[in-house]
Amino acid sequence: MLHEPAKGKDRRATGGQDASENRDVPDTPHAITAENLKKIYRPEKDMPPVEALKGIDLTIPQGSIFGLLGPNGAGKSTFINILAGLVLKTSGTLNVWGFDMDENPRNAKASLGVVPQEIYFDPFFTPREILDVQAGLYAVSPKERRTMEILEALNLADKADAYTRSLSGGMKRRLLVAKAMVHNPPILILDEPTAGVDVGAKSEIYRFISELAADGMGVILVSSELPEILGLSDRILVMHEGRFTGEFSREEASEERIMQSIYNRRAEA
Ligand SMILES: Nc1ncnc2c1ncn2[C@@H]1O[C@H](COP(=O)(O)OP(=O)(O)OP(=O)(O)O)[C@@H](O)[C@H]1O
Ligand SMILES: [Mg+2]
Repeated sequence: MLHEPAKGKDRRATGGQDASENRDVPDTPHAITAENLKKIYRPEKDMPPVEALKGIDLTIPQGSIFGLLGPNGAGKSTFINILAGLVLKTSGTLNVWGFDMDENPRNAKASLGVVPQEIYFDPFFTPREILDVQAGLYAVSPKERRTMEILEALNLADKADAYTRSLSGGMKRRLLVAKAMVHNPPILILDEPTAGVDVGAKSEIYRFISELAADGMGVILVSSELPEILGLSDRILVMHEGRFTGEFSREEASEERIMQSIYNRRAEA
């Protein structure tokens, strides 16, 4: 089994710290909560500020596949990048796996595996080295590392010792997924994981996501592709222009309802 299922707070990622430091953390049924989360980008030169998140409130339950859908520029990556620690929020609160992002950023971050939308690797590192470095950053001991197991699960075992510059775009994206898995986080977030990936590799990624969810991992899938979100998610959250405009269960969700939640919002604006 690639993912060890989460079992309450004992399974919480500790960011390399002793688990006993987390005894006072309350159990939470939520993977992620956000309250009045805002992000204003202040671009350089004479560009006006961009209000990318306009005060979002959100509760993502533990387990299952949660789809975050919205058109280009909706604010999806901004939200994910704040969780990943790549973008600083302007205001509001965020809680991950029971850890407040401001009070306990290390444990909050260690509870997440994030596959970013942008692909970047050092071209002269190999997949094996990249996974080992990442494991080191998360204080995963050499004995606990599952480098080859993860590479095999993502069909990259034969590229373990190749320079990443020699990998195709789809292979690089699969390597990003592998990298997010090294510390066995209870929650995995994938920001557009199938962009530029061929049809075969796409279905491999879908199968991999479904298996992780079946093993008890919480998956948040971010996409601007409606069929992808509709096909995989147990619950769907729709985002548009920095706000959430609708939330649907798998049974409730339809293309029409989702599009309506975006267009009604547009009509109000
Ligand atoms: N570093 C930045 N500086 C200034 N503005 C930014 C920055 N990053 C994002 N934005 C702006 O914030 C808004 C939300 O962008 P974001 O990347 O979060 O959208 P998205 O929903 O992920 O879109 P996509 O589907 O294209 O990936 C957009 O208006 C975008 O131009
Ligand atoms: Mg994005």
